[in-house]
Formats: sequence, C-alpha cells, structure tokens
Amino acid sequence: MFATKTIAPAFKQACRTPATVRFTYPTHRFLSATTTSKVLISDAIKNDHRSLEEARDKIYDANKAGDADTQRRWQNQFTWELARHSIGEELVVYPAFEKHLPDGKEMAESDRGEHRKVKEHLAKFQVMTPDDKEFIPTLEALWTDLGHHIQEEESEDLPKLEQALKDEDSQALTDSFARTKHFIPTRSHPSAPDRPPYETVMGLMAAPMDKLRDLFAKFPREKRNDQLKDVP
Ligand SMILES: [Fe+2]
Ligand SMILES: [Fe+2]
Repeated sequence: MFATKTIAPAFKQACRTPATVRFTYPTHRFLSATTTSKVLISDAIKNDHRSLEEARDKIYDANKAGDADTQRRWQNQFTWELARHSIGEELVVYPAFEKHLPDGKEMAESDRGEHRKVKEHLAKFQVMTPDDKEFIPTLEALWTDLGHHIQEEESEDLPKLEQALKDEDSQALTDSFARTKHFIPTRSHPSAPDRPPYETVMGLMAAPMDKLRDLFAKFPREKRNDQLKDVP
C-alpha cells in the first residue's frame, strides 16, 4: 500500500540539497513538521538512503577526477548523514518495529547489529584523508555492509512496518525522525541556540543510546517559521 504514496516535493528537495548548502543551513530548517507532514516513514528513510548513495558516488567521481577537496567535502557529508541516519533509525524506527510487529524485537536487534558493523567502518573512514590508499577501499568495505542493510530495510523491514501502521502514525514517525536532524552540527554558527549537543561525529557515535534518547526528548517538537528567521 505504501508504494502508491508520493514523497512531498519540499522534503525530496531538502534531501537533494548540495553538501555546501547543507553545511551552511541546518537541515532541520528543511525538515520541519510542515514539510514532512505527508511523508510516510518508509519514504523518508528511502530518501536518506538515496542521499547516502549520492554522497558515495560524489566521492567516487571526485576520486577519479583527482579532486581531493571535493572528496573531503562529500566525505564529511556522508559521515554526518550516515551517523545521523543510523541514530535516527535507532531512536525512532527500530522502537516502532518493537512496538508494532510481532517479530519486531528480533528485527530491531538484527538491524542494530548491522549498524554496529557499519559504524566501525565509518569510524575508520571519517578520519582518513583522500590521499590515503585505503580511503576508497574503506568506503567500499563500508558500503558492502551498508548496501546489504539498506536493501533489507527497504524490501523487508519497512514494508512490514507500513502494513502495521495507519498513514497518520507513519507520518508522525516521519516528523520524529526529521527531528533527529538536530544531531547535525550547524558549523557556520557554533554558538547558535539550536546547536546540537555533539560537535564531532565520533562523539555522536560514541554517545550511549539512553543519553541520546534523553536529549532527543528535550528537542522542540516543532519550530514555527518565525523562529527559523534567525537561522542563517
Ligand atoms: Fe538502518
Ligand atoms: Fe536506513
């Protein structure tokens, strides 16, 4: 049933915004409750997956072109997006598996185990420089595990979840998932009041999940447009 529903254009556009813009503007600016209100959680997750594929391909292209600076930029984009995406799923989506699906606990545990493997690759990759001969092989090894995980989520886990949820419940999960964008740093203004709690991706990935859950619960559920005007 979920396959017939479309992605809100504004949300899709937000996920396609180039890396340079996304580092300047906090992503939650694009993913407010307004822009995500009609998006099913499976479509939101798939959009993130497509963005990760895009970032990976940009790294490969820049590597072929011998452009270290562009590789570095997309490496940063890829690293933060993957860390944030994984934590967003662990905070919002996997608990929904456990709550709504009879075999949800096993599904969530299996997915968390796959995330652990991917995060180990990511911890290595994110400190590498493009001139390291292991730079591309490390990304390839990461993607071997991540690609398998993405395929499983999209073909098995998310269809099961959508079947168990009403549309409005799925859309509410999307709004919660969008709030995890707070975990991406607003680098241009480190002292901005909406600064995320972690300044490095390693700090974010190493944070205990219960601590992140407590922090996440304290994020605003919705930002009014007039509050966003001060965000550069
Ligand atoms: Fe995942
Ligand atoms: Fe995912």
